[in-house]
Amino acid sequence: MFVTRTVAISTRNWYGRFYHTTISDVFKVKRPGDTIKIKGWVKSLRKQKDYAFFDVNDGTHIKRLQVVAKKDQTLKNLTSGASVIVSGNLAETPSGQLELNASAVSVVGECDVRDGYPFAPRKIYPPEYTRKYLHFRPRTKRFSSLLKIRDVAHLEIHNYLHSKDFIQVHTPILTSNDCEGAGEVFSAIPTNKDMLNNMIRPNVTVDQAYFGCETYLSVSGQMHLEAAAHGLSKVYSFGPTFRAENSRSRYHLSEFYMLEAEMAFINKLETLLNTIEMFIKCVSFKIFDKCAEEIAVCKETDHYISSHLIRDFKVLPYDEVVNILKKYETKFQKAFNEKDGLTKEHEIFLVAHCQSPVFIINFPKTMKPFYMKELTDDQTKVAAVDLLGPNVGEIIGGSLRENDYYKLKNSIPGNDARLDWYLDLRRFGSVPTAGFGMGFERFLQSIVGIANIKDTIPFPRWPHHCQM
Ligand code: 4AD
Ligand code: MG
Repeated sequence: MFVTRTVAISTRNWYGRFYHTTISDVFKVKRPGDTIKIKGWVKSLRKQKDYAFFDVNDGTHIKRLQVVAKKDQTLKNLTSGASVIVSGNLAETPSGQLELNASAVSVVGECDVRDGYPFAPRKIYPPEYTRKYLHFRPRTKRFSSLLKIRDVAHLEIHNYLHSKDFIQVHTPILTSNDCEGAGEVFSAIPTNKDMLNNMIRPNVTVDQAYFGCETYLSVSGQMHLEAAAHGLSKVYSFGPTFRAENSRSRYHLSEFYMLEAEMAFINKLETLLNTIEMFIKCVSFKIFDKCAEEIAVCKETDHYISSHLIRDFKVLPYDEVVNILKKYETKFQKAFNEKDGLTKEHEIFLVAHCQSPVFIINFPKTMKPFYMKELTDDQTKVAAVDLLGPNVGEIIGGSLRENDYYKLKNSIPGNDARLDWYLDLRRFGSVPTAGFGMGFERFLQSIVGIANIKDTIPFPRWPHHCQM
């Protein structure tokens, strides 16, 4: 016998029976005179003779709600940073702000700077200091604003791509290929050596025993996306990506999120550039629209992409870039040299020089990975693109993919048989494809104006730093 249970989902029942009011709802739907109960953290506190005034925020809204409470025993443990539950009536202040007249205040968790809580009330800390306390960072106004922007950006990227018929494909994190071929992979090996010794087979090392081959954390889902694009036409993935670079620069993370898109039936670089430009513009405008206040809180640098976005992105072939950098060589700390390629300094200069984001196209073949398509009129170059944005330089890397079976076969490093499946894509039902990968944190850094990439991700990892 079945017992049926009805769950009322009207807002009134939901809040009335089970939940408190969020601060977001206070500002959106509540009116003076309403009785509410809120739960959150005390952000600032002033105790006067008979009354205490404190601001509460629960992370659901950028604004704080001021609470007025009669001073009594329950307020003894009330400090800035403490978690509280407050019930009372909403009132309107003479300046038209909502304020909560508390009938009951309970402190859920105390918070005392004298016991070691690292943030004193009303003090503004530099990002380097806040970064030392990753576990407390989401409570700061600046970082909680950043997390909100990050969330909106993530959602708007999905919304935009879906509106253009892209299908999300979950590419694997464990993989047997180093897509970029740059040797920046982390190995993935089980720690249980006894198990591995039992699994070992002829011709494989202990490190290869689990999967039967060397396995890494993915540096890019591109190749898997190419396989998916050969059946679904327009696909994308958006997930964690790992690079074992020994860089502590303000642009590099060991773990970051990459948005990658791949499209079938594209054989012109121009189509790829137009797709990227529309994508960046539409998503950025949505973020500026929905997160204007949060961006104002987080913004640290002057290079702010919004003023650049209204213009068409500039397109510079690599050869032209070389001429520009040589012409302005006195401006650089490290002069441009073709062997080492562009440094961050050069990239950021080019964006300032053009007063807009810049697409660099047609790179020398030797500077780019094996899968990029050779130019038809110059076999030393490939149909590659890097998009440079203000404040950070390279945000996006992409290309047309080589779809000539023999050219691709000859360019695979070491004739690696593990990529036979990739070659098969060019043997059966092959089509020209193109795609790009965008570093999500670099994008945020550029559009929000954040100096250090470590301040765009909740729990950053970089050499010698894997806290928590
Ligand atoms: O230019 P990359 O290496 O391109 C690829 O991985 C291609 N397979 C993408 C594709 O075509 N599907 O990386 C793409 C972007 C860079 O432009 C940069 O924004 C970001 O990923 N990126 C990093 N971001 C933070 N920390 C790092 N260590 C990064 N390395 C790359
Ligand atoms: Mg790149």
